[in-house]
Amino acid sequence: MKANQFDHIAKVYDLLASFVFGKKIIEIQQRTFYRLPKNKKVLIIGGGTGKIIPYIEKQLQPAHLVFLDYSKVMIELAQKVDYNGLIEFINDSYEVLFKQKEEYDIIITNFFLDVLTPSQLSDVLPKIRTLMKDDGYWVVSDFRIDPHPKKKYFHWALHKTMVLFFKVTANLKNTTLPDYIKEIEATKLYKKRAVKYAYFDMMFTALFSKK
Ligand SMILES: C[S@@+](CC[C@H](N)C(=O)[O-])C[C@H]1O[C@@H](n2cnc3c(N)ncnc32)[C@H](O)[C@@H]1O
Repeated sequence: MKANQFDHIAKVYDLLASFVFGKKIIEIQQRTFYRLPKNKKVLIIGGGTGKIIPYIEKQLQPAHLVFLDYSKVMIELAQKVDYNGLIEFINDSYEVLFKQKEEYDIIITNFFLDVLTPSQLSDVLPKIRTLMKDDGYWVVSDFRIDPHPKKKYFHWALHKTMVLFFKVTANLKNTTLPDYIKEIEATKLYKKRAVKYAYFDMMFTALFSKK
């Protein structure tokens, strides 16, 4: 199996995610949407089954939505989601975005950074900025390990379980869970606008703009 190939679990992905995290996993992804402008060019990287699409349509009303995912089955599922606006699907790996000259008003990477190995992550974090318009925004949602002793062991154990599951089912290569907000801030390329937490603080969503 190719690395990070979610085809085999695409059809049960949302069911499994909601079994473990309930509605929190979809709710957290939208918690900064109210701060974003409408009628803009929006890019979703690693968008999965497209479950977020109707929420984006309702809250962001994009002028143009570009949805990229590496998994063919994920893209097929996302294409079946009702959407009334202009939407473009790209079935490819994220690197393709850095070869083109397109810029976006809003970029969304929800539970995507956690599939990247540390070296892929350090390559991607500065490059996201090159995809953003000058007044653009970046929405990042993902998992985290809270340092509080009452939470960290639970977060660590649940993360290890997820990694093991995705190693077997999707040949996931990344096994790490860095502090993504810290990593993004360490690039000194982005300004943090907002952060929200959910699920015993194991999930976050953060809103960044260009510095
Ligand atoms: C953990 S899932 C998250 C899906 C979705 N964003 C969500 O929150 O439900 C990660 C997604 O990233 C996609 N992915 C993995 N490697 C990728 C790559 N190199 N380029 C683009 N997408 C990729 C997978 O196919 C999968 O749909």
